[in-house]
Amino acid sequence: MTDVSSAPLAASDATATTGAVQDVSGASAASAPAPASAPAAPANGKKPWETLPVTVKVNGISHGPMDVPAGLMMIDFLHETLGLTGSRLGCGQGICHACVVIVDHADGSSETVRTCITGANYFDGKTVRTVEGHAVPGTDGKLTLAPIQQAFLDHFSFQCGYCTPGFVNAATVLIEGLKRNPVARADLEAAITAGLNDQICRCTGYVRYYEAVRDVVLRTPGCIKDAK
Ligand code: FES
Ligand code: FES
Repeated sequence: MTDVSSAPLAASDATATTGAVQDVSGASAASAPAPASAPAAPANGKKPWETLPVTVKVNGISHGPMDVPAGLMMIDFLHETLGLTGSRLGCGQGICHACVVIVDHADGSSETVRTCITGANYFDGKTVRTVEGHAVPGTDGKLTLAPIQQAFLDHFSFQCGYCTPGFVNAATVLIEGLKRNPVARADLEAAITAGLNDQICRCTGYVRYYEAVRDVVLRTPGCIKDAK
């Protein structure tokens, strides 16, 4: 892995993969398209302004217990309450998957969840990873990117980078799943397609995202059954 501080990267490149620069996401969120209609009332039967409890672990840090509005979506909780602005609000309607975070389950499995259409209360008692949780800080304070983040940079996978936090999380879940349930080399392309299929990118042809993920999978021990 490469030390970010010494890598010849534009600030916007590192931001897209780590979510580390907060004003970028603030500006982006402000310019994101608004939902076509007002968010539906929470499925729990509560009025949006009624409160529900949330205790959630995000990137290894516990937050709560606290009460939040029943209609508060997780992406707003992340941005406004926790100050984690790396998750991107794209469509706001559950379509583009730019906003996904990772939920880690007790059995060791993980999944992505769309934070634009999922209330903060849904995450009560859950363990979550956001794009800010992937890079590892060293004792000198410098960040070392996760392999998939570095691969996206190495392959020039993105242009504007708005979709990249979602791709980082989806690819991470895919690779973690392949470690638990390896596939044959011949089935890898289909596995990558299935793992990234929900992620929408408005700038690229996806090819470099796919190449980066394939590169990491092939370098990660245990993902391919018949690896030589
Ligand atoms: S912002 Fe598009 S699915 Fe959440
Ligand atoms: S790089 Fe711009 S939306 Fe994907």
